[in-house]
Amino acid sequence: DSTNQYALDLIKEGIPEGTIVISDRQKKGKGRKKRIWDSPLGGLWFSIIIIPKISPDRSMMITMVASISIVQAINQITGINAEIKWPNDILINGKKVCGILTELEIEKNSVKYAVIGIGINVNNDLNKDLKETAISIKEIKNTDISLLELFQEILRRFDYHYQDFVNNNFDKIRELWLSYSKIIGKKVEVQDEEKIIQGDVCDVDNFGNLILQTSQGKVRINIG
Ligand code: BTN
Repeated sequence: DSTNQYALDLIKEGIPEGTIVISDRQKKGKGRKKRIWDSPLGGLWFSIIIIPKISPDRSMMITMVASISIVQAINQITGINAEIKWPNDILINGKKVCGILTELEIEKNSVKYAVIGIGINVNNDLNKDLKETAISIKEIKNTDISLLELFQEILRRFDYHYQDFVNNNFDKIRELWLSYSKIIGKKVEVQDEEKIIQGDVCDVDNFGNLILQTSQGKVRINIG
């Protein structure tokens, strides 16, 4: 059904950190906001299980670690410069090529485990309704690319950046993330469940929060 769901079930059985669940396709791929994530053959759909000793307020950084690993791997394997859109989308030419869904459990004010679900449109055809906002790597390259090579490169990079994360080298992660997001100084609108906040992006902090200069002053945002 879903690699995230499968990983969450495995955790209940007691599974070591670093376990990965990967599937050729998913029948019930989970997206953010309870959306279905279309996952046909040809894409890369997988979930990484981690058990980091961190406080919950650092959890957005887990997704940042994944994002920078994916951008670097796409560049290494295909030569394409992808961009990060806060908080967790990867774009090519302004269209979504990859989504990340991090699901975690918190116990006694620390993260018990996290499942980082990564979905990348690689060689798969996109559903008609998605074509305006999404893109696949194949569309850019005009040829299939090796799923295995891309997968290996993402894991290699993730392994590297995750070490920085567990060693509290948050500045390094944040700076890389910022260099791939080009968000500083941009005018943005952030929509959460109740309202829309408008402002200019001043920064993203070492917790993954977006810091906006709004007409009411500086605002720190962690969801939207
Ligand atoms: C988003 O909505 O942007 C996040 C999409 C995350 C999709 C991936 S595909 C692999 C993993 N398993 C799931 O069920 N979802 C994530």
